[in-house]
Amino acid sequence: MSLSARRLDATDAAAFQALRLEGFRLQEREFRFAPEDEAGFALTDIGARLARDFVMGVFAGGRMIGVAGLTRFAGVKVRHKALLWGMYVRVEFRGSGAADMLMSAIVEHADGLVETITLTVIAENRRAIRFYERWGFAIHGVEPVSVKLPNGDYLGEALMIRRHEGATFGASAAVR
Ligand SMILES: CC(C)(COP(=O)(O)OP(=O)(O)OC[C@H]1O[C@@H](n2cnc3c(N)ncnc32)[C@H](O)[C@@H]1OP(=O)(O)O)[C@@H](O)C(=O)NCCC(=O)NCCS
Repeated sequence: MSLSARRLDATDAAAFQALRLEGFRLQEREFRFAPEDEAGFALTDIGARLARDFVMGVFAGGRMIGVAGLTRFAGVKVRHKALLWGMYVRVEFRGSGAADMLMSAIVEHADGLVETITLTVIAENRRAIRFYERWGFAIHGVEPVSVKLPNGDYLGEALMIRRHEGATFGASAAVR
């Protein structure tokens, strides 16, 4: 089945929320959010977020099967960077190139806007980390016991950063 990707807008709010809820339900150990966190948002709030942020969706036969969002940090001292969030591809489309379609659009958009993209990923999520590394992200530390699951398990979260290839940085800008 052929895949297509496009930027989401407010009209996608219901499908976007449904896919997020699916991801948080099925991937409890991969996300820091729980379904009840997302379920509390009204569709108008989600629509406003889609209108504001850069959120990509990938579709198979008209059905949304993957999403990823990018939000630029607000504030004079941090607006050179953006946060990548909510990367999710339905299990049957993993390894299909759908995630690459999302990331390609995110990186292209970010490269014209900011100098670095940051994200956090559960430290045991080897597949996602490998995927991000392939796209030029590197780990710059792990926050231990960052997430606590309902069963009492604690998970660490890794901070990953990708530096815009064309960006120029002074000597003081080494990523520490
Ligand atoms: C993260 C996600 C979007 C990546 O999409 P994907 O289609 O699975 O990614 P790809 O198949 O293109 O790439 C995965 C890479 O990990 C590798 N991989 C697969 N399983 C692995 C494992 N257990 N350990 C290490 N690497 C693994 C693959 O070989 C591939 O690497 P390669 O391209 O060098 O061969 C998708 O897996 C997903 O939605 N996961 C559940 C939600 C999630 O974890 N989101 C991230 C939250 S930060």
